[in-house]
Amino acid sequence: MLKLAAFSAFALSLVAAQDGGITGPMSNPAAAGYSCDPNSCKLPKCNCASTSPPGGLQPSEVPQFVVFTADDAVQSYTIDSVNQFLAHRKNPNGCPIKMTYFTSLNYTNYTLVTDWYVAGNEIADHTMTHVGTPPASEINGNLIALNALAGIPLDAIKGFRAPFLNYSVDTFNLLAAADFTYDSSSSASIPVTDPGTDAFWPYTLDNGLANDCLNVPGICKGQPKIPGFWEIPMYAFFDNLGVNGPHLMDPWLDNANGGTTVNDSATLQYMQNTFTAHYTGNRQPIGLYTHPIHLSTTYPGVNAPNSTINMINQYLDWVQEQQNVWIVSNEQLLAWVQNPVPVSQLDSVDALKCPTPQVDPSKKICNGMPQNEAGLVQECAFADFPFYTCYGCPQVEVTPSNPNPPQQVVSGQQARYRLPSNCSTPFWDPIAGNCLCTSSSCAFTDNSRPIGPNGANLTGGGTGGSSSGASQTPSYVNFNGAPPVKLFGSGLVGVVCAVFVGALGAIAGSALVSL
Ligand SMILES: *[C@@H]1O[C@H](CO)[C@@H](O)[C@H](O)[C@H]1NC(C)=O
Ligand SMILES: *[C@@H]1O[C@H](CO)[C@@H](O)[C@H](O)[C@H]1NC(C)=O
Ligand SMILES: *[C@@H]1O[C@H](CO)[C@@H](O)[C@H](O)[C@H]1NC(C)=O
Ligand SMILES: *[C@@H]1O[C@H](CO)[C@@H](O)[C@H](O)[C@H]1NC(C)=O
Ligand SMILES: *[C@@H]1O[C@H](CO)[C@@H](O)[C@H](O)[C@H]1NC(C)=O
Ligand SMILES: *[C@@H]1O[C@H](CO)[C@@H](O)[C@H](O)[C@H]1NC(C)=O
Ligand SMILES: *[C@@H]1O[C@H](CO)[C@@H](O)[C@H](O)[C@H]1NC(C)=O
Ligand SMILES: [Zn+2]
Repeated sequence: MLKLAAFSAFALSLVAAQDGGITGPMSNPAAAGYSCDPNSCKLPKCNCASTSPPGGLQPSEVPQFVVFTADDAVQSYTIDSVNQFLAHRKNPNGCPIKMTYFTSLNYTNYTLVTDWYVAGNEIADHTMTHVGTPPASEINGNLIALNALAGIPLDAIKGFRAPFLNYSVDTFNLLAAADFTYDSSSSASIPVTDPGTDAFWPYTLDNGLANDCLNVPGICKGQPKIPGFWEIPMYAFFDNLGVNGPHLMDPWLDNANGGTTVNDSATLQYMQNTFTAHYTGNRQPIGLYTHPIHLSTTYPGVNAPNSTINMINQYLDWVQEQQNVWIVSNEQLLAWVQNPVPVSQLDSVDALKCPTPQVDPSKKICNGMPQNEAGLVQECAFADFPFYTCYGCPQVEVTPSNPNPPQQVVSGQQARYRLPSNCSTPFWDPIAGNCLCTSSSCAFTDNSRPIGPNGANLTGGGTGGSSSGASQTPSYVNFNGAPPVKLFGSGLVGVVCAVFVGALGAIAGSALVSL
């Protein structure tokens, strides 16, 4: 119980502290000092910060995108929470809704990340231990740990959001160095109907940032220039106070119209009003940026009011009654922005299609599909936060200085094989070390990306530990600068791990009861 109480307190204070509350405009045209020549900055690699749709399309030809994101740990409670808003919905093409999960690793249950990814959602980076203005190890370690323990291809992790939306110029440089495609930490803080609005369509940093110019030092007026790197602003809602009544993350936790209590009908009203302003204007995307733990009905100690949950569903029902509205992940939004087509041609956009990995549901394979993997996931019974994985428990908890520790091999079993660079997650059998994909339709290559202080191209595979990089590539050097750990001989691993598992088993037993 103690453990649970501590965890709730942590989770709730985290939510409150990082509400991402903004209280007024974060930019203006003078502070932005932005200029960009659309004749030289052209899609798909370059896009000027603009309130007009990309590709010269008319607003009427453009879909209204509603981006749905969640931040922080991935747990059954948070997935349940997201599902109560999205699981029953479909986009206009009949495909299930996908969203973006900005994942931080403390309290994350890795196997649920695998499942969520295989179901078609986007997994993005929110640092390992949830810190503002993060060092490289927090950003890159998250990639490595999600690849090693959740089987997410390195290529698939394209986006970043700073915890507390606290970033600096340095953050952008680190993201670019690690080959991220986009950041989504800045705010669009002026209504689309106001002069000088900062509600830009997603844009590249070829000419610097044009959002948050009043509150982040060293950005805007052309800085930082990072060609080809995208910013997806977070679009605020505005209540009756207009620019002085912005609501960015979890708007349902805020008091509307300067009031003193939460009023769901007032929240619904301003969310609809802001949506309408976008929809009848230049159709800049709009978002629902959530900390889903707050709306969980399965997390002990959190009592999300039904009225709030119903209100959010009412908003989404209403939104989906409008024509040409798509609820999407950031990745889907960006795919369309990079190659924009009019609504009449949306059927041709691959990113908006349904995920279709075909794996025989009777096959026993730990692949992120609940039916297939039942009974095969391993429990890693760490005292701080036990988790499950298909890819073999690490010997010690992951940390920024050691994001891929050697594997703790269960006595009498073989080490599990991490996702290699030439097989996609639903087709990879980590127990047999075998790729089920035999046709070109499921063929997959994870292009390596430079990660870590030595810029090594880590391509996944192996069984854990510092020597897990594919042998053809430079080996990964720990962030703490420690020399690569040699893999144990198999005999020794068995003995060491039997003791380790035994000791943790006892702790896990009590932890599970109290959770
Ligand atoms: C973690 O994942 C396992 C396996 O999917 C599941 O049984 C368990 O309920 C999850 N726990 C949490 C807290 O997410
Ligand atoms: C996250 O976990 C690490 C390792 O257990 C711990 O040192 C750190 O304090 C945790 N951070 C938070 C925000 O809980
Ligand atoms: C941003 O994060 C850094 C590092 O954690 C911290 O020192 C700073 O106070 C934070 N800034 C704000 C505005 O919270
Ligand atoms: C809540 O908001 C609605 C809609 O703006 C308003 O009619 C109602 O009076 C508000 N209720 C309270 C208790 O303030
Ligand atoms: C909330 O709704 C659920 C499901 O509709 C219901 O079981 C529960 O009793 C409701 N809770 C309250 C406090 O009304
Ligand atoms: C992936 O690469 C490994 C090692 O190079 C090779 O043995 C295997 O056949 C490849 N698998 C696929 C599905 O291409
Ligand atoms: C990693 O791959 C990139 C792109 O292929 C390449 O530019 C870079 O030199 C590689 N880094 C190392 C250390 O091999
Ligand atoms: Zn967060």
